[in-house]
Formats: sequence, structure tokens, C-alpha cells
Amino acid sequence: MRTLVVLAHPDLAASRVNAALAEAARPVDGVTLHDLYAAYPDLLVDVEREQRLLLEHDRIVLQFPFYWYSAPPLLKKWLDEVFLRGFAYGSNGTSLRGKALRVATTAGASEEVYRPDGFNRFTVTELLRPFDATANITGMAYEEPFVVHGTHGLDDAALAAHQERYRAALAAGMPRERDLALA
Ligand SMILES: Cc1cc2nc3c(=O)[nH]c(=O)nc-3n(C[C@H](O)[C@H](O)[C@H](O)COP(=O)(O)O)c2cc1C
Repeated sequence: MRTLVVLAHPDLAASRVNAALAEAARPVDGVTLHDLYAAYPDLLVDVEREQRLLLEHDRIVLQFPFYWYSAPPLLKKWLDEVFLRGFAYGSNGTSLRGKALRVATTAGASEEVYRPDGFNRFTVTELLRPFDATANITGMAYEEPFVVHGTHGLDDAALAAHQERYRAALAAGMPRERDLALA
């Protein structure tokens, strides 16, 4: 399985958590780490390049810090410009069908705050429903979001545990030796 991690952090140099997750992802077999803000500092997305990258991978992971209950703006622009009718949806838009889509996000607030009876009223998974709907219309299989809560209070040991959890999540779904032998 080839996994494309589309990383969208507007200031990766100042990032602690996403930078650590990206470092955990980079060496995983089959993973391509694609830093959107580094690729497009002028925010001008190369649509053909992005569509080619999507075609070359089986699973797409959208990794970003949770900003205003959503993703940073370049990821939205990337979706608007790359997931075109005739490519991602519509009667001839079948290029993403059968691939997997997963969100990996980091939220400043703790999990308790993201509960029906908590301050933010909704879980992060609920707030990520637009990505679930995007997977649906494009025929992608939506995987359970990978969420790191409480980034503001995360100590080094907890961060290391999340790195390991992320590495394992990305490594999962790699072809087993038996599948390789049968290929
Ligand atoms: C513009 C902005 C908006 C944010 N919005 C939220 C939010 O809606 N919910 C939340 O839990 N944290 C929010 N945060 C906190 C970030 O999610 C948190 O700082 C980030 O996940 C930490 O990851 P990093 O170390 O990779 O930057 C926001 C931060 C910024 C700068």
C-alpha cells in the first residue's frame, strides 16, 4: 500500500506536534510525505502534479493542526482545486474511487472539551464530517480520524507515544508477506 501524507501546517518551523508526527511518518515504508506549504509557498497549487500524486497512492492521509474546528486554508484550496469534477466526482470522475482517505489532526483542546456536554459541544470526529462526505462523493473509504487532543499540555512522553501510534497507523495496511508472495 502506498500512502500519501498531505501535510498542511502554515508554520511548520514553529510546530511541535505536527513536526513530530511528520518525522514519525517519513521513514515508514510506502509513505510519501508531501508538505503542501513548503511545495506552494505562494499558495499556487500545481493541480496536475497533485492529481498525479493522488493517482500514484492508495491511501491519502490529510495531516493538519485543527484551526477553527477545521483545516488550515491551503488544504481547503487544495481540495477545491484538485478534487475536480471529471477527476474526483461526476460520471467520469472515478480517479479516487477505491482509495482510502484518513484525517490526522492535532487539537489544542483536550478530549473532555470535545464532548456533547463539553465546551466545544461536538467531538473532533463529528466536526470532521465534511471530509467523511468528501470521501463518500469521491468513492473513497473513509478511515477513522487519527486525533491528538490537548496539544497545549502534551509532555514529551505523551508526544512520543502519539508518534508511535501514528507510525503504527501508517504502517498498518501494508501488504503482508503472504500477499506479496501471491502478487
Ligand atoms: C489559527 C488557530 C486556530 C486554532 N483553532 C483551534 C481549534 O479550533 N480547536 C483547537 O482545539 N485548537 C485550535 N488551535 C490550536 C492548534 O490546533 C494547536 O496549536 C496545534 O494543533 C498544535 O500543533 P503544532 O505543534 O503542530 O502547531 C488553533 C490554533 C491556531 C493558531
